[in-house]
Amino acid sequence: MQEVHVGIIGLGNVGSGTLAILTENAEQIALKLGFQLRVKALCSRSIVTNKAAATNKAAATNKAAATSKAAATNQAVAALRNGSVLLTADWREVVAHPEVDIVAELVGGTSVARDIIDGAIAHKKSVVTANKELMAQCGAEIWDRAIAAGINLAMEASVAGGIPIHSVLREGISGDRVTTLYGILNGTSNYILTEIEKHGSSFDSVLQEAQRLGYAEADPSADVDGYDARSKLAILAALAFGEKITPSDIYTEGIRRILPLDFQYAHKLGHTIRLICAAHQTFSGLILSVRPALIPQSTILAGVQGAYNAVWVRGKYGEDTFYYGRGAGAAPTGVAVVSDLMRVAREIRCGSPERVSPFAHERLGEYKPIPVTLQHSAYYLRFRVVDRPGIIASLAAVLAGKQISLEAVLQLPSDNPRDLPFVITVEPTSEQSIREALAEMSAHDFLVEPPFAMPMEKSL
Ligand SMILES: NC(=O)c1ccc[n+]([C@@H]2O[C@H](COP(=O)([O-])OP(=O)(O)OC[C@H]3O[C@@H](n4cnc5c(N)ncnc54)[C@H](OP(=O)(O)O)[C@@H]3O)[C@@H](O)[C@H]2O)c1
Repeated sequence: MQEVHVGIIGLGNVGSGTLAILTENAEQIALKLGFQLRVKALCSRSIVTNKAAATNKAAATNKAAATSKAAATNQAVAALRNGSVLLTADWREVVAHPEVDIVAELVGGTSVARDIIDGAIAHKKSVVTANKELMAQCGAEIWDRAIAAGINLAMEASVAGGIPIHSVLREGISGDRVTTLYGILNGTSNYILTEIEKHGSSFDSVLQEAQRLGYAEADPSADVDGYDARSKLAILAALAFGEKITPSDIYTEGIRRILPLDFQYAHKLGHTIRLICAAHQTFSGLILSVRPALIPQSTILAGVQGAYNAVWVRGKYGEDTFYYGRGAGAAPTGVAVVSDLMRVAREIRCGSPERVSPFAHERLGEYKPIPVTLQHSAYYLRFRVVDRPGIIASLAAVLAGKQISLEAVLQLPSDNPRDLPFVITVEPTSEQSIREALAEMSAHDFLVEPPFAMPMEKSL
């Protein structure tokens, strides 16, 4: 059977992992497909330098993981140089290449990547992308244009790297009606939280260590402030609920305020803390959030440690299913991209069924996103105060004024009366009431910093 040809644009983490798998595993892939999947074009702005480096053995002695990744890419690029493979710094040459059937967009971001996908669609090439940011922002519209052009689009690697969660939602459990979806979707945040939990170190010191080890970016905001997880939840919730979701529909809060002592209190309550991506269907609509939350230590999600990701889906019929794996990294994400390339190649070779966009809000949309202030939950409230009599009484009075029932007050031993921490937990109430109570409490001059609230996810 005739080969299917691939053009890869972007040879960073994901591009290099994809290229390595496509070359190292070519034989198995061909046997599985029944035809060859061949790389026909490679593009990155520095590919000319890479090409030179590939012939220069000294380049391989440079230190650090970045270099071994570059060396591996160089090796793969060098291996392909002898064949009829286009190596170019201009992505336009790849999307216009007459022999390329599928374009892999592995550049990232929302500007050039969008132009690349638009260019591929204009040239009637199918597209595989790992781009969560772009797909969360305008995936539905890109899919509509791809379908109109009669080409295929695949985006498995855009959420939770090595976990095939798109296939699960589009195929595996598509017969169910999803009611709730929980995810731990940012490996960097999960790594930081579990390190704070294990070692009692501060957020700043764990972040610095993560940056030194290459687990966190120099600018960590997308990870620790929740924006990366928000893009992923926007895509998953759109697929799971058949609703139009944009990142701005998702209440987002990062992990910067988490202290080691929050884990001590959480453990006392039989809980731990994770950055939880949550989508709940309620009678009035979908409530979507990315925020640190207390989850019971007994739940399977609490066992998700380090840079791992997990997704828990609850359906009306099939009830609970759970998916776990590496959320990022060259090889796990490369597997997702290569598997997408295989899926699309199979379709190109074996005939295409009528395509239907996975962004199905025009056909399905039942539960519109509603504000998180309508959410009902138990809450953990943590205070740091300058000690003096009557503090608990004045905070309890604020809660009572908002009809919020206090559940417990916890105070671990502390020898610093000028920065005394304690925790109040409250029975389920609305997010709106908690926000009003916190705003009122913040006026008290005994507070060292504004009170900090996290929901306690009891339904897990
Ligand atoms: N890293 C992960 O584990 C992971 C996991 C899941 C999804 N993703 C997604 O995968 C995508 C790629 O991420 P990554 O981590 O691989 O990024 P990366 O390491 O920064 O790689 C990006 C690549 O794009 C190339 N590039 C940038 N601008 C270009 C242009 N105008 N023309 C051609 N090439 C260009 C860069 O090389 P030059 O500078 O030489 O051009 C580089 O090779 C992103 O959408 C990301 O969100 C990443």
